[in-house]
Amino acid sequence: MTKVIDKTDRSAGEDLAGKVSLPSVFALDGSGEAMWVDVIHRMEEVYSELLRNETDLERKNAELEEAQTFISSVVASVSDILIACGRDGVIHKVNPAFLTLVGMEEAKVIGTRIFDYVIETDRKEAERLMSAGQEGRVLEGDLHFRAAADREECLAMRCAALFDGRRRRLGAVLTGRPISELRQAYQALHQAHLELQTAQRKLIEQEKMASLGRLVAGVAHELNNPISFVYANIYTLDRYRKNLVSYLNAVHQGAGDDEIADLRRGLKIDSILSDIEPLLEGTLEGADRVSEIVKNLRRLSFSETGERHAVDLDRVLRNSAHLAVRAKNAMAEVSIDSDASLFVDAHEGQIHQVLVNLIANALDAVADRQNGRVDISTRQRGDSVEIVVSDNGPGIAETEMNKVFEPFFTTKDVGEGTGLGLWITFTIVQDYNGEITVRNNEAGGAEFHVLLPLAR
Ligand SMILES: Nc1ncnc2c1ncn2[C@@H]1O[C@H](COP(=O)(O)OP(=O)(O)O)[C@@H](O)[C@H]1O
Ligand SMILES: [Mg+2]
Repeated sequence: MTKVIDKTDRSAGEDLAGKVSLPSVFALDGSGEAMWVDVIHRMEEVYSELLRNETDLERKNAELEEAQTFISSVVASVSDILIACGRDGVIHKVNPAFLTLVGMEEAKVIGTRIFDYVIETDRKEAERLMSAGQEGRVLEGDLHFRAAADREECLAMRCAALFDGRRRRLGAVLTGRPISELRQAYQALHQAHLELQTAQRKLIEQEKMASLGRLVAGVAHELNNPISFVYANIYTLDRYRKNLVSYLNAVHQGAGDDEIADLRRGLKIDSILSDIEPLLEGTLEGADRVSEIVKNLRRLSFSETGERHAVDLDRVLRNSAHLAVRAKNAMAEVSIDSDASLFVDAHEGQIHQVLVNLIANALDAVADRQNGRVDISTRQRGDSVEIVVSDNGPGIAETEMNKVFEPFFTTKDVGEGTGLGLWITFTIVQDYNGEITVRNNEAGGAEFHVLLPLAR
């Protein structure tokens, strides 16, 4: 009863000892057979262990493949570019975004150096980024790549060290995002912003020139009056002089008493003598007015440089109202109820501008009225002074109340309003840590309130 051992005859894990007979040549005694049974038993164990390991390995392999597919699909779907390269810059791996950027196939890219794709002037920057690994930090910077179709593309890059499993540095991993479009958009925006600023400065300058023009017109009117009566007086004085000369000549030439009496009456010598004093006083008053106007103008520097000083609000207010009325040739009644002891730390020109803007607007509002009124008052309110400019014009519509301080908001015709007056006024008042508000008064007209801190 012999049987050749045939492996195909049995299945894994099956105990062969009972089924298999040994060749008769070994079956000398019972102990030999037992030994063989033992060997075969061991082999069987090793074999089944091997099979177990193989299935394990297959399972792990499948898992690994799945993980790799997952990672690859993630890397492929990232729109940022990704480059893994050695310390010398030789590229080991890139993602599809990079291939699209440079317009090449993967096989042609692997083994080339990252520096081959960066424009010459950015090479230093690329080397700096590549040093990220040595310092164990993430470095950031912009690189210009030679992109497909002879384009150049700027990318915001991040570079980190690439390690192996034992934390040894192999090279660097670079990721990058195109910023050309973003930057272009930003630059266009920046440019537009600059242009807007220039335009705004020009407009403010124009408004300043316009208000200067109005001021000059007011001053011209203002000077006209005293100068014209100084002229008239001098003309009269010259006439008087001629009469006096004729009279004195007659006296010196020894004319008779009757003749002299006639001349005195004919030449109106007595009324001339009594008229000379008031004429001279009037002329002097006119000259004083001129000099006062000039003095006021001198104080009115529109430059905002230099120290602020205590500005006499009452004086500036009266001066501003006067000039505004003159400039507008206004018929309205303007009343001023002002506390004479109030001073603000300011540039006089700016306070003047605030007041003239408010008063000029009020005069505009009542320009078409028969009984137009503008009431201006100043009062101390704690540490501040409150200036109120109120009129009996049409007032401001509720919907426009909070628009009037916006630049360029105007309801006036082209050429008559720039819409910058109240905006400038608002800016100046804010500069002095003040406040400006507006409401409609009982008469239906507008009422502007300005609060300014008093000078200490
Ligand atoms: N006293 C007022 N009464 C009625 N409306 C006013 C008054 N003051 C200002 N406004 C309104 O506010 C707008 C803006 O004023 P402003 O900034 O000085 O510009 P502008 O006078 O050049 O129009 C005016 O066009 C007007 O509609
Ligand atoms: Mg105005």
